[in-house]
Amino acid sequence: MADDTDDDAVELEARLAAQDTFEPPESFVEQANVADDGIYDEFAEDWPDCWEDAAALVDWDEPYDTVLDDSNPPFFEWFTGGSLNASYNCLDRHVENGAKNRAAIQWEGELGEERTYTYQDLYREVNAFAAGLRDLGVEADDVVTLYMPMIPELPIAMLACARIGAPHSVVFAGFSANALATRMNAADSEYLVTCDGYYRRGDALNHKGKADEGLRGVDHDVETVVVDRLGDELTHFLGDHAHDYGELVDRHEGTHVEPVSRDAEDMLFLMYTSGTTGEPKGVKHTTGGYLSYAAWTTQNVLDVKPEDTYWCAADIGWITGHSYIVYGPLALGTTTVMYEGTPDYPERDRLWELVEKYRVDQLYTAPTAIRSFMKWGTEYPNRHDLSSLRLLGTVGEPINPRAWKWYYKHIGNEDCPVVDTWWQTETGGMMITTLPGVGDMKPGSAGPPLPGIGAEVVDVAGDPVDEGNAGYLTVNKPWPGMLRTLYKNDERFIDEYWREYSDVDSDDPDDWTYFPEDGAKIDDDGYITVLGRVDDVINVSGHRLGTMEIESAIVGVEGVAEAAVVGADHDVKGEAVHAYVITEDDATPGDALRERIIQGVEDAIGPIARPESVVFTPELPKTRSGKIMRRLLVDVANGDDLGDTSTLRNPDVVEDIQAAVDAGD
Ligand code: WTA
Repeated sequence: MADDTDDDAVELEARLAAQDTFEPPESFVEQANVADDGIYDEFAEDWPDCWEDAAALVDWDEPYDTVLDDSNPPFFEWFTGGSLNASYNCLDRHVENGAKNRAAIQWEGELGEERTYTYQDLYREVNAFAAGLRDLGVEADDVVTLYMPMIPELPIAMLACARIGAPHSVVFAGFSANALATRMNAADSEYLVTCDGYYRRGDALNHKGKADEGLRGVDHDVETVVVDRLGDELTHFLGDHAHDYGELVDRHEGTHVEPVSRDAEDMLFLMYTSGTTGEPKGVKHTTGGYLSYAAWTTQNVLDVKPEDTYWCAADIGWITGHSYIVYGPLALGTTTVMYEGTPDYPERDRLWELVEKYRVDQLYTAPTAIRSFMKWGTEYPNRHDLSSLRLLGTVGEPINPRAWKWYYKHIGNEDCPVVDTWWQTETGGMMITTLPGVGDMKPGSAGPPLPGIGAEVVDVAGDPVDEGNAGYLTVNKPWPGMLRTLYKNDERFIDEYWREYSDVDSDDPDDWTYFPEDGAKIDDDGYITVLGRVDDVINVSGHRLGTMEIESAIVGVEGVAEAAVVGADHDVKGEAVHAYVITEDDATPGDALRERIIQGVEDAIGPIARPESVVFTPELPKTRSGKIMRRLLVDVANGDDLGDTSTLRNPDVVEDIQAAVDAGD
């Protein structure tokens, strides 16, 4: 790669800035899993049977008899009558088909330890742990909570659960004790797998302490399994109802656990995510549709082949890690890379060091990471040979064209396609993106809907907007990876995702349209640019946070009377959390209270939700009907012109807030 001189940078800026369409590199197209744009028409003509292509990527114990059962919308069912096991599909069949010595998981710890699990190794440990889980009493349909960082035992536990038909509910390790308890209570989960600790920027973190604290908030008995990640570095006591992971696995070394054949529509896992109200939503994914869709998109969007070394640098605690670190790549029998730590430890070239070391073929990461890399400078990627890369991907939030172009040039050396993939926890897999060997790329725009996906940009009335215009993103056809419901809450499922654009009294599937709660615009070529959430969810570094959840944490702090939280622009994080707080009469606004508020948010949710600023204000801007006018608070946080404030019940308050911001308190 060229030296990073100022001249180069200027030349790049000028040349790339002027270019808004990029063709897929010829060398890529020649070997791409999909290189024929006929796939769009084929899928349109043959819908929904086109999705048999996805179902064909997995092995079925019993073949399905119906591709799509749409007789009871919006409770769509896919591949009904079929049965399969996800763990069998991710392990046994590869072991049986000559891939037993291929690396399944290539793990790297933050301090540089390496662990390679071949498919055979992974098969053995998953079986042993599946038997161990059974010892504790886990049966099919019991929800097992996994509260673990990026260590191999996390995907092992997921696959062990899948093997015995127990749905897992992974709680991101960075979430607080309280967030763990809320999720375990909501799912009635009686089993927890966690670990003693893990490394962050060289420090050993005490994770077990946090898990124990969370367990105190769980309203039923729990059997806990603890993985020893840190050895002697951290001693912990197992405590009541706690079991040592190593002991369980050793006890069952060499055991084969027959994979439980699951109905296509049986739950594979639950994943809690943020929504408009304070209660996290338990998104339910099923076995047949989800697994097929994860495998199909991994193959066709990420262009993964079994012999590749593929790296999705997300955390398994989020949906991206479920679909594209674990299920998609392992179903295809490829090598998936897992890294425990942060990208700047010990130095800012850690990712590039790993790409070089493992000869990574595809890298899939988030725009927030790319913006950090860009800020750190090209010196770091330039230290390494990145020529093994064939494809780059992004997910989680809109990517600005400047960051896209930086990624394309400095990481991809202008010969890797970049797929900007729009999707959600609820969609299970990618929905809007170019196919890398087919479509031209337009930085900043995710691209057209994938073949077979009915994404549309509509106005408030639900009519498609004209090209060039903005509106709301909708999906007017079901797809195999879609969520089936919110756990034990069908009504909220309809309210949250369907009511807005569907005729909810109709039995006709065509009257049902899914609303992802994102704004978007569409161009002349049908490319969709996703603009961001239109509900009260903010996206911090690609993580979804509900403003209501943060507000209720703040209101729980002594001395706080009322709070409003908004997301405002942030260079690296995309959005950052800003809090506006009214104190109780006898409380003193100031640094001490501010610290307690920040701590309150970290305790309730986790450090990712930490407010960037806390502004004390005598009042909040409210409409005449008493609703907080968040738009104004966003404008204040962004330093933007405040526009029309005449509809406020209390227009003067905006000046007071502005003054508080300016005064720095
Ligand atoms: C946003 C992550 C623009 C969007 C897989 C969506 C994106 C939310 C993109 C889902 C993208 C995700 N361009 N925005 N390529 N990808 N989003 O559930 O607002 O954590 O609704 O799933 O992230 O976040 P979630």
